[in-house]
Amino acid sequence: MASAVQRIGVVGLGAMGAGIAQVGIEAGFEVVGREVTADLADAASGRIGHFLARKVEKGQQTQDESKAALGRLSTTTDLADLATCDLVIEAIVEELGPKRALFVELERICDAEAVLATNTSALSVTEIAAATTRPDRVVGLHFFNPAPLMPLVEVVRAELTSDEAVATALGVVERFGKVAVPCHDTPGFVVNRVLIPLLNDCVRVLDESRVEPQALDLAMTSGAAWPMGPCALLDLVGIDVHVHASEALYGRLREPRMAPPPRLVAMRDAGLLGRKAGRGFYSYG
Ligand SMILES: NC(=O)c1ccc[n+]([C@@H]2O[C@H](COP(=O)([O-])OP(=O)(O)OC[C@H]3O[C@@H](n4cnc5c(N)ncnc54)[C@H](O)[C@@H]3O)[C@@H](O)[C@H]2O)c1
Repeated sequence: MASAVQRIGVVGLGAMGAGIAQVGIEAGFEVVGREVTADLADAASGRIGHFLARKVEKGQQTQDESKAALGRLSTTTDLADLATCDLVIEAIVEELGPKRALFVELERICDAEAVLATNTSALSVTEIAAATTRPDRVVGLHFFNPAPLMPLVEVVRAELTSDEAVATALGVVERFGKVAVPCHDTPGFVVNRVLIPLLNDCVRVLDESRVEPQALDLAMTSGAAWPMGPCALLDLVGIDVHVHASEALYGRLREPRMAPPPRLVAMRDAGLLGRKAGRGFYSYG
């Protein structure tokens, strides 16, 4: 039952996990975040504290609210500390092997009623669930980056997910104040199924139409009313993140449009990863 969820575990406090943990504590849940080292856990808590402090500065939150939210966050390096969580959201590296191994551990550690969720972007939730003996309680909760700012969460029903697990996940997403779109477990779910081949097309058009990234972005913002140009968006997402998801979807769907264009693979290999690297299609000072 959705109302029964009080304590949420988040495994992996990287870009996504820390954002999800922040959303959880701001919505009033107790959140236990797990990282592989204490330094990484401390760094994630620090980032969350920084974002909450900024919200206080901007008048979006009071000091007391911020302090209370941070008081609901604890971190650990020991997965066993997630034993009393009603919902665990996994946000570790985007690889099937480590995710399946983690779900085997979570099944061993967590209460039989706990719902186990994955934030995978492009892997099969059904394959992750199949590592457990109770795939009915495994669901996809696909947040978008940055999780505290992006409203959408795709609630993914895998092949054997129970109605109860979906209802619990939907209830939590609602309490998070997010927009839930329930969907089935197909490669890329809804948004990435559309967006990844579309962005790949945009990059191919760069070469075919012989336009510069600035010109393509201008064309799409001015001619199609996109809020952000495709090259700027790829820089924001991270060229490596996009190529990885694109390869995963191509591997599963075998549609040529899903395959990453060679230009993006070369950029990834050269370290032109976008904003986080200071350079991608654009340079960032
Ligand atoms: N970055 C995005 O735009 C985005 C958007 C939606 C979903 N996702 C998905 O979220 C997940 C996490 O992505 P991210 O961008 O936050 O990655 P990230 O690299 O920023 O963070 C991953 C974290 O997990 C930890 N970790 C890595 N391997 C682990 C393991 N084997 N066991 C336990 N912990 C481990 C790392 O210490 C790291 O802090 C991936 O499945 C990704 O596909 C990412």
